[in-house]
Amino acid sequence: MCGIVGYTGKNNSVEILLDSLSGLEYRGYDSAGISIFVNQDITTIKSVGRLERLRNRIEKLYPNLYSTCGIGHTRWATHGKPSDTNAHPHTTEKLSLIHNGIIENYQAIRKDLYDKGYEFVSETDTEVAVKLIDSLYTGNPIRTLFDIQKKLEGSYAFAMIFADHPGQIYAMRNSSTLICAKNEEGSFLSSDMPAILKYTQTYTLINEFEVVCLGSDQITIYTSEKETRNPEWQTAKWTMEQAKKGGFDHFMLKEIFEQPQVLSDTIHPRIIDGFPSFTQDGINDNFWLHFNRISIVACGTALHAGMVGKAIIEKLSHIPVECDIASEFRYRNPIMTKNTLVIVISQSGETLDTLAAVRLAKLRGLPTLAIVNVPGSSISREADYTIYTYAGPEISVASTKAYSVQLSIMYLVAMKLAMTTGTRSFEEIRTLSKGLLEAAEASQQVLKLKEEAKFCAQQFAKIKDLFFFGRGLDYSLSLEGSLKMKEISYIHCEAYAAGEMKHGTIALIAPDVPVVAVCTQEFLLSKMIGNIKEVQSRGANVLLITKEGMEIDPELYNHRIDLPALDDIFMPLVGVIVLQLLAYYSAVIRDLDVDKPRNLAKSVTVE
Ligand code: F6R
Repeated sequence: MCGIVGYTGKNNSVEILLDSLSGLEYRGYDSAGISIFVNQDITTIKSVGRLERLRNRIEKLYPNLYSTCGIGHTRWATHGKPSDTNAHPHTTEKLSLIHNGIIENYQAIRKDLYDKGYEFVSETDTEVAVKLIDSLYTGNPIRTLFDIQKKLEGSYAFAMIFADHPGQIYAMRNSSTLICAKNEEGSFLSSDMPAILKYTQTYTLINEFEVVCLGSDQITIYTSEKETRNPEWQTAKWTMEQAKKGGFDHFMLKEIFEQPQVLSDTIHPRIIDGFPSFTQDGINDNFWLHFNRISIVACGTALHAGMVGKAIIEKLSHIPVECDIASEFRYRNPIMTKNTLVIVISQSGETLDTLAAVRLAKLRGLPTLAIVNVPGSSISREADYTIYTYAGPEISVASTKAYSVQLSIMYLVAMKLAMTTGTRSFEEIRTLSKGLLEAAEASQQVLKLKEEAKFCAQQFAKIKDLFFFGRGLDYSLSLEGSLKMKEISYIHCEAYAAGEMKHGTIALIAPDVPVVAVCTQEFLLSKMIGNIKEVQSRGANVLLITKEGMEIDPELYNHRIDLPALDDIFMPLVGVIVLQLLAYYSAVIRDLDVDKPRNLAKSVTVE
């Protein structure tokens, strides 16, 4: 979850490191720090809090700081609270090191090192790593890094500089991603590519257990067999422009507004002659014939996209689908029969639990299909097949456009399965494909509901608790609306299947308690009306989110938002946008940091 950068070259690394760290802050913002060579010696500066505090500290204590080689880190605290002491880099006289991941056996190593005379000042697992390297170091960084691989358990991407190797950066990874990049003026290391797009688009991926040495004009990669290999250089397709706010107040709002475009980008290349097709993803039509069971695994917002996916795949293709929370799936010894397709969904492609699900499925000999947004990410590299969503970089910690494009792929997969298994006629599939394209276009109309969502958020300005409920697809949508609301507005929210409220939760409904009733499914309308009545008659303040033309007694709600009237099956694609806007304005009204909500990080690379 932490972010790592490194630079060695002809320019001032201080500026490059701080600038690149600002692009990685979404991975954690509990503290930040850098270590750089100044006159051949290592200088380390770090600070608890946002990157801005580090920048201020540097300007105050070291004006005009200049160095051509260094490493930088932004932290999401796991072991040890956010503090100056726990901030990375961690140092000894011999080296300075930054880390992304968790060292699981750090306590045993710490005890061992303590017995050898090492003292510890921080509560972090990272300090153990730096001291372990220190204890084994005999002047050859590469050899030492291969040696410590045998001693460490857990996940890590490390970058470090050694006092006796000025101008060089060393790095190694297991699980947590690392990329190297270059331009004519130097070499870069980063946890992801968007952070350094300003400097270069030429990058290469580092494989697990590889060790790498970056010099200003050369990058040497050592394979896990300790042999050098040539880097496979790639060109990043994402641009700097995509990673800017582009006139919006927040990345989240910009990303909400990008949804019509990214939906179109993701869907259009995959509808050929009116039918879904994944040939551009290297998946031919025969692939879909082999499965009589599907297992969808993901976390958070991606999981909510998976829940919609389960419902539509089952509805269209009649193939049974399970949808699992990745962190539960991996430890519950799931039953996976021979013809099961395991689909994982992940924006970042780095979520550790989701990656573990891919590994588990592969271990059981099952085919894995990843729906991923970030090119070259760990999940896309390990899954057998990858369908990329074309959302472009999603910078806001709260996921919005990534969810929509994940949904769009779910629709296409469901249609493809229905087509190959013959549960739907070609004509029906053609109509559904058309419906999907129309839904993507209709998302543009929903953006016009911005002011209405803002008005409703204002009505919620003072609330502490909020309930969402819905049935069928609207239940999955309620879960996503509730997650979005709580993560950025810090309002306590609960989402329920509407029919389930009366089995306990309705005890919490009292006069003026706000309830968002998501009611877009025509065939469930009469049932939903019953459930709305149940809360409304107990005094709830009901915000009804429904679609144009649905007849609902105005006595039953305090405010109504009408979505474009699409076929029930496509309503989540438009419904989610209003829920995102509602959450967004609720956070803005509370003057909260919308793009970087407290305690969260965008890429969850720990269990
Ligand atoms: C919520 C959010 C998270 C992510 C989850 C999975 O807005 O962004 O719930 O959806 O951490 O992340 P990915 O999709 O990167 O695997």
